Amino acid sequence: MWKRFNELVYWHTHPIPKELKEFRQSVQINGFEFVMMRATMADIDDMQAIEREAYAGDDPWPRRIFEHELNRTRERLYVVLRQPETNSLVGFMGAAFRPGIREVHLANLTVSPHWQGREIGTFFLSYLITLTKQNHFQRLSLEVETTNERAIKLYEKFDFQIIRERRNYYGPQRNAYDMAQVFSKKQLGRGMN
Ligand SMILES: CC(C)(COP(=O)(O)OP(=O)(O)OC[C@H]1O[C@@H](n2cnc3c(N)ncnc32)[C@H](O)[C@@H]1OP(=O)(O)O)[C@@H](O)C(=O)NCCC(=O)NCCS
Repeated sequence: MWKRFNELVYWHTHPIPKELKEFRQSVQINGFEFVMMRATMADIDDMQAIEREAYAGDDPWPRRIFEHELNRTRERLYVVLRQPETNSLVGFMGAAFRPGIREVHLANLTVSPHWQGREIGTFFLSYLITLTKQNHFQRLSLEVETTNERAIKLYEKFDFQIIRERRNYYGPQRNAYDMAQVFSKKQLGRGMN
């Protein structure tokens, strides 16, 4: 019983698995080879640059937000994908792990326009769903602008449901959907259920 209690306490205080503290691995997506690793402060310029391209007309997250997120290493996981030859940034994903409510929240998913439509977004989302389930979180949530059809299609492909609409979330007349999916005990397997 104590073992289980200690495991539960550890999970609450360290929701991101140890092996993801620092990692670097090769991945193949749609026939292309990439390198995936945990984001560091050195990635911020590139993350802002692809945000600028991907959200045409919108400002990227300010540097201080990225720094704040990346400093919260215990409960935030930001992952970047780079091209091995050029080291250019292909895309990144960031998530908040919230053990108190057993939820993982997708905070940012951006693919460089050059690489969009080649299953990079699909890869990132499958990766996050796997991590969420493997680590016994019951819910995966996100916000998306109601006009962002491409992103909504991607989330619907993975069975996310629209929970509610938030008016003016991204600015005047720019609404957001809260989307989420909930995993059953069976999908989560043994662990902290
Ligand atoms: C949304 C985004 C992350 C998707 O990444 P991506 O790598 O382009 O997505 P994928 O290639 O994996 O495609 C996923 C799904 O998106 C949809 N999609 C992809 N390209 C599309 C296009 N040109 N037109 C419409 N839908 C498209 C499809 O439903 C596709 O699934 P399918 O090919 O199996 O039908 C990416 O477009 C992006 O970074 N957009 C700008 C930033 C953004 O909006 N982020 C999400 C914030 S909530």
